[in-house]
Amino acid sequence: MRICWFLLAALPALAQNAGQVAYSENCAICHGAAGEGGSGPDLTSAAWQASMTDADLEAVIERGRPGTAMPGFAGRVNPKELISHLRALGRTAIRPTTDLQTPPISVSNEQLLRAGGERSQWLHYGRDYTNQRFSPLNQVHRGNVTRLAPLWSFQTGTPDGLQASPLVVNGVIYMTASWNYVFAIDARTGAELWRYRKRLPEKLKYCCGPVNRGVAIHGGTLYMATLDARLVALDARTGRVKWDVEVGRVEENHSCTGPPLVVGDRVIVGMAGGDYATRGFIDAYDAGSGKRLWRFWTIPGPGEKGNDTWSGDSWKTGGGATWMNGSYDPEFNLIYWGIGNPYPDYDGDVRTGDNLYTNCVVALDPETGALRWHYQFTPWDVWDYDGVNEMVLVDLKIGGRERKALVHADRNGHFFAVDRGTGEFLYAKPFVRVNWAKGFDAKGRPIVNPDALTNYEGVEVCPGAAGGKEWNAMAYSPLTRLVYVPVIENCAIFSNYGAEAKKKGLPPGPSGFRYLPNQAYGKVTAVHADTGEIAWEVRTRTPMGSGMLATGGGLVFTGDAEGNFTAFDDRNGKLLWSYQTGSGIRAAPITFELDGRQYVAIASGMAGAIRGYTGPGAPWMQNYRSGGTLYVFALFEPGASTRFHGGAKR
Ligand code: HEC
Repeated sequence: MRICWFLLAALPALAQNAGQVAYSENCAICHGAAGEGGSGPDLTSAAWQASMTDADLEAVIERGRPGTAMPGFAGRVNPKELISHLRALGRTAIRPTTDLQTPPISVSNEQLLRAGGERSQWLHYGRDYTNQRFSPLNQVHRGNVTRLAPLWSFQTGTPDGLQASPLVVNGVIYMTASWNYVFAIDARTGAELWRYRKRLPEKLKYCCGPVNRGVAIHGGTLYMATLDARLVALDARTGRVKWDVEVGRVEENHSCTGPPLVVGDRVIVGMAGGDYATRGFIDAYDAGSGKRLWRFWTIPGPGEKGNDTWSGDSWKTGGGATWMNGSYDPEFNLIYWGIGNPYPDYDGDVRTGDNLYTNCVVALDPETGALRWHYQFTPWDVWDYDGVNEMVLVDLKIGGRERKALVHADRNGHFFAVDRGTGEFLYAKPFVRVNWAKGFDAKGRPIVNPDALTNYEGVEVCPGAAGGKEWNAMAYSPLTRLVYVPVIENCAIFSNYGAEAKKKGLPPGPSGFRYLPNQAYGKVTAVHADTGEIAWEVRTRTPMGSGMLATGGGLVFTGDAEGNFTAFDDRNGKLLWSYQTGSGIRAAPITFELDGRQYVAIASGMAGAIRGYTGPGAPWMQNYRSGGTLYVFALFEPGASTRFHGGAKR
C-alpha cells in the first residue's frame, strides 16, 4: 500500500523526468540545455510559449520543419512528455534583464501622417509618406561620427540575406528576413521578443530570390506581403497571426516581396511576377478585417483607356508588376506607385505600342483605386528597365516657382521630376552613361535611339538591365536639397531571339542580356533635386545595391556589396566613417532616438544577385554570400558597457 501511494505521488515527476531525459538526448544539442536556444530557436520566451498551443508543439515534434534543421521525431519520442518539459522550461527560464515584454503598441493614423516628426520611431518603409528617408536626428554628426561603434548585433540565423528596411515602434525593431520571417527585437539590447515565420507552400514562383523588404504597421498590427502572394496581419506584441488573405496566386506567377503601405485604414499592396506571363495590379485591403477593397489593374482591359497601347492579346500577360512600395500625399490625397516592365521583357515585337501602364508612375485615389494621372518613364521598354523604383515627394524650386513634385531615379538611367498634383513632366537628366535615349521632348517622352533596340545579333545598351539604379532606396536631405542615389554604372548586350529570329528565319531562343565582364561599378551620387544636375559623386568598387539614409547631422549612410557600412559628408561626399559588417549589404539604414541617444541600424547579409553582378563571375562577391545580422550603432561612451541581455536570444 505505502509503495502504491508513493508511486502515484511520483507519477507527474516521473513524466517530467522522462520528458527531461528525452529533451537532453534529442533536443538540447540544438535548442540549448535549458531551452535557451542555440542553432535552434529559444523555446522559453513568454511570448513564444503563449503563441504555441500544445497541438502546435506536437505537430512540430512529430513532423519537424521540412526544409530546416528541425527533424521530425514521430515514433521516436513521446510528445506529451516532451511538451510537459517544454512548458516547465518556459516557467523556469532565466529571464534576460529586459522582461521581454513587448510594450503596448498602437500606431494611430495621426502618427502615420506625422511620422517625419517622430524622433524615436521609424513608422514607414521610407520613414514617412514622402519616402525621403531623412531623419532630423543630429546627435551623430560630421564632427563625431568617427566615435560611432556597434552597440549590439542580432543574428537572424536565416538563409538568403536581408533586404529589409526595419520599422521602429516604441523601442521595438520589426525586421523581415528572406522566406518571410519577421523578428521583433528590443531596440535597446538586441534581445529577441518574438519571431514569426510564414509556412510557405513548396511550390513558389519568384524570379529574384526569396526576399522580403519589410512590414507596415497600423494600430497594433503588422502587415507583411509574402512570397506565396498573401497578406498576413500579425499582432505586433506577440507575432500571432490575426488573419492571412490571398493577394495573388502562385499558379498565376504572383509573389510579393515589397513592403505594404498603410493609408488611413487601408493596406495597399503591390505584387511581383512581371518577368513571367502575368497581369500586374495594386490592391487595397481593410486594415482590420483583411477584406479586399479595390484592385487597380496596371494593364487596362478591353474598352478601357490605354488598352490600345498593346497589340493583340498581349495585354493579358503583359507584366507590369508593382513589386516595390508607394508614397502618399495627404494634401492631394493620392498614392504614387511605380509600375514594372512589360512582359516578355526583351521581345517587344509581340506587344507593339506604348504598353501602358508599364514603366510608369501612377497616381491613384487611395479610397477607390481610381487612376488620376500617369507618366511613363520608358514607353515600349525592351531592356527590362522596370519602373518600380521609389517616388520621393519633394517640393522643388524650379524657375523661381515652387513645384510640388516627385523625384525618381529610374533603372533607365535618368533622374526624373514630375508634378505630383498633375503628372506634368518637369525634367529628366541622365545620371549614368545612357545610349538608348537621345533626350526627351517637351512633354517628357523619351526620344529613343533606334540603334539601341534589341536585335538578333545583340546590341550594347547603356545602362544594362541593372540600371541606373536598382530598387534600393535613395534619400533626400532638405538641408542640402540633394538626393543621394545608389548608382550602378554598367552597359550590357541585349538580344532578341524571338520575333527577330522569326523574321530572319533563324532558330528562336530565349531573348535576354549578358553583362560585359569587369565593367560594372558603383557610385554614390548626389543630385540637385531642383535641377537634376549632379552635385558630387563618389565611385565605389562594386555596384551600389544598398539603400540610403540622410540625417540632420549632415551625414549620408549607406552600405556596399563588400560589407562596408559607410557615412559620407552630405555636402561633398567625403568618406567620414566606415565599419566592416562581415557580409554584403543590400538593405537600407535607419536611425532613431531612445532615452536621449541616437541609434543607427543596418541589416547586413548578402545573397542573391545585384542583377547578375554577384555570381561566380564577380570574385568580390564570393566571400559575402551568407548570413543575416542586424547591427545597431551609437556613439561610443568610454566606460559605458552595452546592456547584457542573457545571450543571443532566438
Ligand atoms: C538538429 C537541430 C535540432 C534538433 C535536434 C531539434 N531541433 Fe527543434 N528546431 C530546430 C530548428 C533549426 C528550428 C527552427 C525551424 C524553423 O526555422 O522553423 C526548430 C524548431 C523547433 C520548434 C518550433 C519553434 C517555432 O517557433 O516554430 C519546436 C517546438 C522544436 N524545434 C522543438 C524541438 C524538440 C522538442 C526537439 C527534440 C525532440 C527538437 N526541437 C530537436 C533545430 C533542432
